[in-house]
Amino acid sequence: MPERLPRIFVTRQIPPTHLQRLQREADCVIWPGQLPPSRADLLAGVAGCDGILSLISDRIDAAVFEAAGPQLKVVSNYAVGVNNIDLAEAARRGVAVGNTPDVLTDATADIAVALLLAAARRLQASGDSVRQGEWKTWEPTGWLGCDLVGRTLGIVGLGRIGAAVARRLVGGWGMRLLYSSRSDKRIEGLETARRVTLDELLAESDFVSLHTDLTEETRGLIDARRLALMKPTAVLVNTSRGGVIDQSALVEALRGGRPLAAGLDVTDPEPLPPDHPLVTLPNCIILPHIGSATVATRDAMAEICVDNLLAGLAGQPLRCPCS
Ligand code: DGY
Repeated sequence: MPERLPRIFVTRQIPPTHLQRLQREADCVIWPGQLPPSRADLLAGVAGCDGILSLISDRIDAAVFEAAGPQLKVVSNYAVGVNNIDLAEAARRGVAVGNTPDVLTDATADIAVALLLAAARRLQASGDSVRQGEWKTWEPTGWLGCDLVGRTLGIVGLGRIGAAVARRLVGGWGMRLLYSSRSDKRIEGLETARRVTLDELLAESDFVSLHTDLTEETRGLIDARRLALMKPTAVLVNTSRGGVIDQSALVEALRGGRPLAAGLDVTDPEPLPPDHPLVTLPNCIILPHIGSATVATRDAMAEICVDNLLAGLAGQPLRCPCS
């Protein structure tokens, strides 16, 4: 009897080239919907699988490992962040977990800079005024924003993406760099960076960009007390995970004008309901989690994701292991 092909549950259609490579090696069930599988569909879909290709919208926890069964070898997340996966449970069961670092660093850093500029120069609200027919004349004091050149940038979490954002803004706009991190960082091109506490960073920075993983320690890290430390002229940008900010506190802070504005590529939950107060605030720009959304980046993520799966199925070390 020929050996059966390994079974994979793929929770969404990802860029096809690499998926085809996977389909040649494995029996893949690809969730056909545009929206993620429901919890029940996820639990049913993984049953009997050797591998799972998951997205950040899929909660991969003990119940999913249990539903998959003891033959499950590998979970490959189509993302660098793995806060949707219970890594301890995966380790306990001997299931390898992979992610897609590096390839999305530039695309995500570009979106952080775009949000920073857009929030600082009020691009969304001023652009909306044109579409709504409210543009009457050139106004000496209309739509005033803030400059970037020579200002202070605070990076919370100077990892790959945080450093890429810093390089753009220090190199391009001559910004002074502060960062908060668990350890000292020596990064080429960013030698003048000064490590400070998070509270100092919030109090001293004109622009704050969040690049920390979402963990139990960082959930709600930017809360009401910390928001109140920010300058009334400051701009807050988040391209990491929505849960790092206490959103109710952010609504109140933005209403009160401290910080001046925010640019968010991530929220909690995602999607954020259209009637959520953050969506309607004129000093808040929200994007639908598009940090890694370029053709080349999503393709590169798919390549790593499939490599991780194939290695895991073969019992070999993953290309990008995160456990
Ligand atoms: C990630 O990879 O973690 C992003 O948030 C989605 O690309």
